[in-house]
Amino acid sequence: MAKNEVVETSEAQIAVHWQEEKYVYPSKKFIEQANIKDETIYERFALNNFPECYTEYADLLHWYKKWDTILDTSDAPCWKWFAGGKINACYNCVDRHLEKNKNKTAIHFVPEPENERVQHITYQELYVRVNEVAALLRDFTGLKAGDTVTLHLPMTAELPITMLACARLGVIHSQVFGGFSGRACADRIVDSKSKVLITIDGYYRGGKLIDHKQNADIAVDLAKKDGQKVDKVLIWQRYPGKNSVPTPMIEGLDYFVNDLLKNYRGKKVDPVPMPAEAPLFLMYTSGTTGKPKGCQHSTGGYLAYVTGTSKYIQDIHPEDVYWCMADIGWITGHSYIVYGPLSLCASTVIYEGVPTYPDAGRAWRIAEELNVNIFHTAPTLIRALRKIDPDLPKKYNHHFKHMTTVGEPIEPEVWRWYHEVVGKNEAVIVDTWWQTETGGFLCSTVPGVKPMKPGSAGPGVPGIHPIIYDELGNEIKAGEGRAGNICIRNPWPGAFQTIWGDRDRYVSTYYAKYCKDKNSKDWRDWPYLAGDAAMEAEDGYYRILGRIDDVINVSGHRLGTKEIESAALTVMEVAEAAVVPVSDEIKGVVPDLYISLKPGYEPTDELAMKISAKICETIGKIAKPRRVWLVSDMPKTRSGKIMRRVLGALSNKKDVGDVSTLANPEIVDEIKRVTS
Ligand code: WTA
Repeated sequence: MAKNEVVETSEAQIAVHWQEEKYVYPSKKFIEQANIKDETIYERFALNNFPECYTEYADLLHWYKKWDTILDTSDAPCWKWFAGGKINACYNCVDRHLEKNKNKTAIHFVPEPENERVQHITYQELYVRVNEVAALLRDFTGLKAGDTVTLHLPMTAELPITMLACARLGVIHSQVFGGFSGRACADRIVDSKSKVLITIDGYYRGGKLIDHKQNADIAVDLAKKDGQKVDKVLIWQRYPGKNSVPTPMIEGLDYFVNDLLKNYRGKKVDPVPMPAEAPLFLMYTSGTTGKPKGCQHSTGGYLAYVTGTSKYIQDIHPEDVYWCMADIGWITGHSYIVYGPLSLCASTVIYEGVPTYPDAGRAWRIAEELNVNIFHTAPTLIRALRKIDPDLPKKYNHHFKHMTTVGEPIEPEVWRWYHEVVGKNEAVIVDTWWQTETGGFLCSTVPGVKPMKPGSAGPGVPGIHPIIYDELGNEIKAGEGRAGNICIRNPWPGAFQTIWGDRDRYVSTYYAKYCKDKNSKDWRDWPYLAGDAAMEAEDGYYRILGRIDDVINVSGHRLGTKEIESAALTVMEVAEAAVVPVSDEIKGVVPDLYISLKPGYEPTDELAMKISAKICETIGKIAKPRRVWLVSDMPKTRSGKIMRRVLGALSNKKDVGDVSTLANPEIVDEIKRVTS
């Protein structure tokens, strides 16, 4: 977004403002066992101890060589953490646990079909499997430190195994959410310049074995057309040794991983000591243009941050069974299914399928069977489970000490149901606010120290110092009752390093708006603009209202409205497309798509369906519009700009306000008739 440009219809503008709630306190039992029980953590991580405070997180890790500089700001605002240090992320998540815990479960893989056995993968087995895959990647594909590789994998154990094998070699992995289309995968292959794609033949979702191999064919084909040739496609098999889907293999391009692995049985690969600031992975996310951006995350800083926050905010102890129901294809999964929990030697649960398959009790049966005691999910799922049967969790004998909510604001009423019914009034809840870019949590309570407040994320986590600015750069103070743009004053080790291959976009999107001096090497001059609107209560707790830009969070999945619009515009009949966010009872926010057609085309239901299908094909099913409204024209300013504000008001059944300045005010009533 350009300086001082305000998006007309953003999530923040349709946000529902709820009342400040009273505190809810953690139980004595929780506090007694908590990793952090006293307030002094906030002093240790106060700004006057910055950046030294973060060595507390780095010291949770094994280093081949300790850093020379904690925070190198010489290339501001591309911060380098623990510069001069040497570290390997895979070693920290696997090898170092073997001495004491090799027989402990690292990963519980829960297949979607309930009659299929849960796989309990010990740290020893994880070590063996990761080494074999690393040997294969090194010797068969020739991948080496600093190369990129695209993964398009669903939620099976092969995903973290592949990620860790890459990390072992210093290969930068770029995992594309499994539910994304072949086209979306191709775009990410091209941008990351990957020569190797790692995928799987099929996986279960909603009772069906999905043919995922066909996405690989589409991705490779489209990437080639866009100038990026993939040399090898490595294909895991959902059932090792068996091809589960009809899409045929391509000679000379496709290889079954399980066939190749026979040549690497028992092979060991030394972890490569990587510079702390070497990229560990890319995670593509939606931004304000159609093109997704590759957030580049570091090795040392990132791992230190996710390990520290997993310990203090997630309260993970090595004996915990931790289940985060996000997808590893999103940042939540990278940080808080794979790297954080494994670095702390916990057991992490990976569930393949739909949370409510075959029924809404599935999650609680899994939790019972595996003795899950830390549970982590998004408001969308909590709302959906509550709607299906608000009493169902009471019938199960699961017990959580700790629960997380992430990805969207949670309504206090839904929060209370989560606390009372899912958590049986025993579990603490942390409402964690953060982003793909930030690597780890920004705001949340420290669960053993601060009380919870339904509907509020909480204060900045230790070491994170938020500030809210208005459009002009004036600070909005705590308790003023006004919302503004939430920023973080200081860098932190989990923050992404840059947008892959696009430093200018990194600087302009996140730092330009409130930068005090573009030439400054002092971090104090570079507040990080998160892109969310927020309000700070008197007690320093933050309420996040939603995005201030063209991004929407649908069921906690982040989508760019421009991405959806550009997909719609590829349909031949479409002249103009505009997406607006609409509040939704379950999904938080959903996209409504307005379309005007080229002259000579008739608005029909078939055409609306065709446009909707095109969006699913281009991005993935998660981007499917709630409604496709075919209208004869868009409301426009005199200079021809589409007034999304008006469309947003119509979709949300709100007052459209003054439309007299439009070039075509009469269209508003017409659209109102179509949409009501
Ligand atoms: C939103 C997901 C309210 C926010 C980790 C942010 C939240 C975007 C919360 C990032 C929360 C995330 N309360 N809103 N606890 N957590 N968000 O990159 O708008 O997929 O900017 O990262 O989700 O989404 P992303």
